[in-house]
Amino acid sequence: MAVDWAWWVGLLLGAVPLLVLAVWHSNDVCHCAFFALKRWRRRANKFVLKSSQDGTFGIRWPAPKLVGLSCVVNVEGSQHARLRGFILAAINRPASLRAIAEVIQPRLVGALRSWADKGTISAATEIKKVTFENICKMFVSRDPSPLTDKMDGWFAGLVAGFRAFPLDFPGTAYRHARACRKKLDTMFREEVQRRRREDTASNDLMSGLMEMEDEQGKKLCDDEVVDNIVSLVVAGYESTSNAIMWAAYHLAKSPHALRKLREENGAVSRDKNGGFISLDDIPSMKYTAKVVEETIRVANVAPMVHRVAHRDVEYRGNYIKQVVVWLRSLHTDANYYDDPLSFNPDRWDKPPKPGTYQVFGGGPRICAGNMLARLQLTIMLHHLAVGYKWELLNPNAEVTYLPHSKPVDGAAMSFSKLSSV
Ligand code: HEM
Repeated sequence: MAVDWAWWVGLLLGAVPLLVLAVWHSNDVCHCAFFALKRWRRRANKFVLKSSQDGTFGIRWPAPKLVGLSCVVNVEGSQHARLRGFILAAINRPASLRAIAEVIQPRLVGALRSWADKGTISAATEIKKVTFENICKMFVSRDPSPLTDKMDGWFAGLVAGFRAFPLDFPGTAYRHARACRKKLDTMFREEVQRRRREDTASNDLMSGLMEMEDEQGKKLCDDEVVDNIVSLVVAGYESTSNAIMWAAYHLAKSPHALRKLREENGAVSRDKNGGFISLDDIPSMKYTAKVVEETIRVANVAPMVHRVAHRDVEYRGNYIKQVVVWLRSLHTDANYYDDPLSFNPDRWDKPPKPGTYQVFGGGPRICAGNMLARLQLTIMLHHLAVGYKWELLNPNAEVTYLPHSKPVDGAAMSFSKLSSV
């Protein structure tokens, strides 16, 4: 009898929580397992990423319906090339980046002022907030409101669904993610239809995507506009805010780098009389560019990408079916980067060895928002450097790695205006 009880108690205390963990966070558990797998090196990464071009490898996101079947990450071949062209034109080319630089600065500057008023902040939380506000502005011309707060929650629910086991019954993260996706879909679809009905356009990503035509004069349909807006928020939200948080974190620990950043940006700011910077200022901000690249390298915001072989592929005696291209292993390898875990923008005085810097992936799927991500980081660094000082409250806080790397205290910091400002 006692044995029976022990068995049931053991089951309840052990197996049930494990099952719950598997249902809610199974992909995170898989990611943990991948940490232990054989590392893919420079040539292997290149082999997989470049072979995507000839259709050898395809991409497969977990739960593709959640992000949208017609979004850029879920389509291949000519459909992918067409959509990618639209997206690059809307967010990654100089003309669009120039407009975006103007749109995002007032909000960034306002956020920094409010952080200084608070005196102490969780950098992870505040940076996420302002990044999302800017995404709403850039993508659909929305200012912060109760609706954008709800959207933020829906995106959080959606992203949690990618990471969960796709079990569709009440109470699971996947079911919740589907409900969030539906709400986002309704909201963006109504907006697309309103713009078509009223024949209005805004200077934002949604109108950009709605108006563009391919070589045959064909525009995107409503599904494509909605799915791609959703996928771009998913791709560009946590990644960018995480990178900005790590920039602030590392600079707080690197007074030498911060001093050089302040010198360069101070000079730019004097030329501008303290006003906003524009895309034209960025080429002269050489040290800032090094801080940007070093931040993204060390942060390893996207530590891996996934591929699926469409046909039999043999690589060095291994038969490949599904691949995790382990980008992080390149950026933390002492063969490619001296003292790889240290934050040292000066290492960018020399370019990295070919194929060893793949923070944005490679081949035909290389990040479509890489210039936008760099722009946002550069602008944030500029305003931080010229106007503020900050100090980590727990400089030795432990770092967690799932789902994204982050100090456990969210990079809590004291934050104030520089006295010279
Ligand atoms: C520091 C920030 C970012 C990092 C480290 C990053 C990293 C990556 C990586 C590694 C990939 C390749 C995925 C693969 O090969 O499967 C990727 C793809 C992509 N990224 Fe980013 N990303 C960032 C920011 C952004 C932003 C701001 C956007 C746009 C708003 C964006 C949009 C995309 C899109 C659309 C793709 C898919 C491209 C395709 O399939 O053709 N990313 N990103």
